[in-house]
Amino acid sequence: MKTETTIQGLSASLQSARAARKTIGFVPTMGNLHQGHLNLVREAKKLCDVVVVSIFVNPIQFGEGEDFESYPRTLEQDSHLLADVGCDIIFAPTVDQMYGKQPRLTNISVGGITQDLCGQSRPGHFDGVAVVVTKLFNIVQPHFAFFGQKDYQQLAVIRQLVKDLNMPIEIIGVPIARDTDGLALSSRNGYLTQEQRQTAPVIFQSLKQAEKDLHAGVALSEVLQNIKAQLSDAGLVVDYVEARQPDLQPINVFDHDLVLFIAAKLGNTRLIDNLQIQLKT
Ligand code: PAF
Repeated sequence: MKTETTIQGLSASLQSARAARKTIGFVPTMGNLHQGHLNLVREAKKLCDVVVVSIFVNPIQFGEGEDFESYPRTLEQDSHLLADVGCDIIFAPTVDQMYGKQPRLTNISVGGITQDLCGQSRPGHFDGVAVVVTKLFNIVQPHFAFFGQKDYQQLAVIRQLVKDLNMPIEIIGVPIARDTDGLALSSRNGYLTQEQRQTAPVIFQSLKQAEKDLHAGVALSEVLQNIKAQLSDAGLVVDYVEARQPDLQPINVFDHDLVLFIAAKLGNTRLIDNLQIQLKT
């Protein structure tokens, strides 16, 4: 496995793969890897000849007061984990390498689906993601790119971006990886105190309870209220609890498949999760 820190170095490393028309798979990450990320790499290995993983904590997707400075940077540990799952190339550029010294004058904004859910409480976040992912796609030029379904809205934004801008890349969504108690794996789980970590599975528990209630015919509005109450009772501060169609459009027919979304703060840590629920028989 190679580690490249420059765009030129990465291009050189990929030259022979491109010349041999090998399939390139790409897993963009911000590092501090867990099994969720490693699952993305495992999926990429199944479909692609060469797998590139980027590790880059992207400053422009963090808002003021968010955790850009404190976001864990663990390149050495990440490298060992990636070597074990067969990653071929790590691309770990500096901020300078990605953005240079001159001001960036181009913005990329995916409309509609970025306006609510996480987009509402993190203004500008998805623009920052769209810019960095576009840059990374242009640098790596993969055939396939892999994203986790925990960041469901992000995955939808990337799919829309790729479609709207005719990027010749197939986007693959990979199911959420969970701890044994149901907590969705996230680099931010590492911020939780021991006590908060014990509380955090209530997020998944409330989603599973909601699934049962919906199947039992409880009204959606009541189900959403119950989730909020369960989270608040456990000491979380709810940002949103929402139901959407799988394409993120509002729900207008109740026997359709839907996705429940939660964002909530536990202390200073913002956690998100979602559950896809099949109501169609
Ligand atoms: O999901 C992430 O880790 C980031 O948002 C991504 C896609 C790597 C862009 O910085």
